[in-house]
Amino acid sequence: MEMTVSVNDNINGTLILPIVEGTESIPEDCERGLPQSMKAQINKVLGGGDFKAKAKTTLSLVGGEDGNIILSGLGKGDGITVHDYRKAGAAVFASIKKIHGNDFTVRFMDAGVAHMAAFAEGMMLRDYSYDNYKMKDDDNEDDSTKQIRLACSEKEAGELTSLVEKYRGIAKGVHLSRDLGNCPPNDMYPEEFADRAWEWAKQYDNVEVTIINYDQALKAGMGGLVAVGKGSSRKPCMVIFEMNKDIKGKCPVLVGKGITFDTGGISLKPGANMDEMKYDMGGSATVFGTMEALAQTGHKGKVVGITCMAENMPAANATRPGDVIKGLSGKTIEILNTDAEGRLVLSDGLWKAGEFDPEYIVDFATLTGACVVALGHEATGLWSNNDEFRSRIHDAGNAVDELAWPMPLLPAFEKEMTDSKIADTRNLGAGRWGGANTAAAFLKQFVPNVDYDKDGEQITWAHMDIAGTYWGAKTNNMVKNGATGVHVRTMHHLITQG
Ligand code: BES
Ligand code: ZN
Ligand code: ZN
Repeated sequence: MEMTVSVNDNINGTLILPIVEGTESIPEDCERGLPQSMKAQINKVLGGGDFKAKAKTTLSLVGGEDGNIILSGLGKGDGITVHDYRKAGAAVFASIKKIHGNDFTVRFMDAGVAHMAAFAEGMMLRDYSYDNYKMKDDDNEDDSTKQIRLACSEKEAGELTSLVEKYRGIAKGVHLSRDLGNCPPNDMYPEEFADRAWEWAKQYDNVEVTIINYDQALKAGMGGLVAVGKGSSRKPCMVIFEMNKDIKGKCPVLVGKGITFDTGGISLKPGANMDEMKYDMGGSATVFGTMEALAQTGHKGKVVGITCMAENMPAANATRPGDVIKGLSGKTIEILNTDAEGRLVLSDGLWKAGEFDPEYIVDFATLTGACVVALGHEATGLWSNNDEFRSRIHDAGNAVDELAWPMPLLPAFEKEMTDSKIADTRNLGAGRWGGANTAAAFLKQFVPNVDYDKDGEQITWAHMDIAGTYWGAKTNNMVKNGATGVHVRTMHHLITQG
């Protein structure tokens, strides 16, 4: 897609017209450049009540003498937000068919620049499909590049252009996260993720990628990462992204769960829907995608990303339930279920984060089925050791319409995860209740203190369980299917504006 901003009144190609519910005819100040026949056609449909402009609806009028039209519903008049505009833009993009051609002009009626940009953002986010493995697109969609002109006044053009530019960069990060998540697990394994990160970093002067391979991880004492990944012929690794690393001072550190396939290991998962466990590296994809969004938008601050990559396989040399391991932090972990593996790789990632003098640490993980039971596909579970920071992330999510719902980090859950008879911690709760909370409480044991190895205050940390939101979120209309790329936008907002 090529999105441009234009102060020209002409309508090129198909006209896209976002409309507020209850509009009965085109207002005069929106008529500029509209051919008479188009105007009459639209007014007939609106006046006759054939298009009510309900949120996320579209009506396509094709074959008119002056060209095609897509009417786009924004919903009820009072309080239409940027989120409504973004959703409308995505709905319009989803409705485009071959007959609409490849040229489009969006004409807004009385919308602010932020709203116009959000509509464009929705179109850009929805402009994604993963068909690397198809010879032919079976939806019969036209793959040629679409030209989209956003019509606006001269006064609006500058600001709109820079917002569109920013959203284009962020959408690239979202799409990268989706690409990584959607890639089949025979082609997406720890080393492949590392190779892609390595290649990716070459295009930016201000980004460095370091790969800690299996031997180095073993030597460094990354017992969690090793325990999860050693049963696979695709060996585990840790991939570290550093942006603007020469800048002095504290910085955000993002940590991702990157299980490129989760069979459950020796505690093997049931067969139904096991294919979906290719998305179990969604946390790492979020970190990589956020780095891309920040790099694309020219972020000047220091940011670090740590992705913990492993494939969880059953094998003769795989970790067993009953094994006790020791990770980077020096704490021992009794492994009671090898399917609770995300928290093991993260225990090393979180501890490693302490080396980078974090202002705060945020981890992302498709961590628990229990989180999906609690929140469905509508919200990410959000835990933090700092109430104010949890609110900041919640607010950043709301600012971009990616809901992260506060969940409790209770002392009772921590007690449950630290009362192993044989080790410092256990990777499974005592019962099955509150499984998303006990997982978060386990992770907290591996968040370093501000003075790293010394006693004292813990580094500000938040955990985001994206098990329900990274894929399968049918009400998320920014994406057709597969990986959503959720929270790249939240994190970009938090880091640059939050
Ligand atoms: N990757 C899964 C979590 C998951 C399950 C995400 C379903 C999305 C959908 C994770 O590694 C896992 O298997 N967790 C177990 C933990 C349990 C053994 C304590 C779970 O949720 O059942
Ligand atoms: Zn698992
Ligand atoms: Zn998993």
